[in-house]
Amino acid sequence: MDFDKIIDRRNTESIKWKYFPEDVLPLWVADMDFQSPPEVINALHQRIDHGIFGYGIPPVDLAEIVVNYISRQFHWKPLPSQVSYVPGVVTGFNLAIRAFCEPGTSVLFHTPAYPPFFSAPQSAKLPFVTNPLLRGADGAYSIDFERFEAQIVSERVSVFILCNPQNPTGRVFTREELTRLAEICLRHKVLICSDEIHCDIVYDGRQHIPIASLDPEVANSTLTLMAPSKTYNIAGLYASVAVISNPELARRFYEFKAGLVSGPDLLALTAARAAYLYGEDWLQDLLVYLQGNRDFLADTLAKDFPGVEMHKPEGTFLAWLDCRGLDLPTEPQKFFQEHAKVGLNSGVDYGPEGLGFVRLNFGTQRALLQEALERMAAALKTR
Ligand SMILES: Cc1ncc(COP(=O)(O)O)c(C=O)c1O
Repeated sequence: MDFDKIIDRRNTESIKWKYFPEDVLPLWVADMDFQSPPEVINALHQRIDHGIFGYGIPPVDLAEIVVNYISRQFHWKPLPSQVSYVPGVVTGFNLAIRAFCEPGTSVLFHTPAYPPFFSAPQSAKLPFVTNPLLRGADGAYSIDFERFEAQIVSERVSVFILCNPQNPTGRVFTREELTRLAEICLRHKVLICSDEIHCDIVYDGRQHIPIASLDPEVANSTLTLMAPSKTYNIAGLYASVAVISNPELARRFYEFKAGLVSGPDLLALTAARAAYLYGEDWLQDLLVYLQGNRDFLADTLAKDFPGVEMHKPEGTFLAWLDCRGLDLPTEPQKFFQEHAKVGLNSGVDYGPEGLGFVRLNFGTQRALLQEALERMAAALKTR
């Protein structure tokens, strides 16, 4: 796979490429500018060529395929019967908090956070409390466990939405961190809804650890959401996986889902099946390319961007840039859009801690990343 090959997306329905004016190079919403693995494309071709698209059921072997994939990648082997499907991970955690947040209790998550973490409890009219990650002098983020536990008690938290690997900071939480989080949640009977959509994209030989894989007791109070969507660039098709080991939790989740959310459509499931069956060699190459992009970004920032700081993301294809040292006259997202013609995500959308930050998506061809960085550096020089 030639990840350097630039493929025009402007003439497609891509939100990433349509949102900003044509002269803006978009490095924002979290999909990549690469074609999916050829096996995924072929599977879709074959299914389309059949020409009949009546109501479907998930492929009978899919749960087994998902479980085998999770076992190969993450050394965790849930039962196929514990696997179910939702269109999106966002759908999954919206359903989960409605199903599991007890009346009079709150939802908790770390910040800075992926914006739908805020809107999910808001739209369900559930109170929520945020636990800011601590930012060290070197820009590395860590968990404030004392405050986390105190908030669980004082705010009567019944659901914790974990994001691991974390968007936008790129943290890949360690076994020790996950164990401490899980212990606190178990101690206070807090259910964990774990958004692990970025699970496959980790760097420097790191290993993603599903929190439910820590031990059966943790699995028993966890709902895990995973998807092939980010990894294999099929996010617009919408197929995601919910793994629920506890039958009572599964029953409540399905009850909430019934009639409101249909399963992923048959093309989405076709793509997901091919990705989970045949995608891993392609993934190895992708990870090498993305890590190269990440390192290129880090080197360029260190060289050409005094005043911008980035702690290298441990996972995800997202970079969280601290632009507070630039002393810009406007919000950095606005500055780079107007003066560099580069479209980034604004940090404030990730919570108040994001003020002065932008999120940059480096899941693109190196040449486009380089061009964006050149435009941004030039805009800073001439301001
Ligand atoms: C942490 C996280 N969760 C969920 C999603 C999106 O999930 P979906 O498109 O499957 O609803 C994203 C996309 O950026 C994400 O970063």
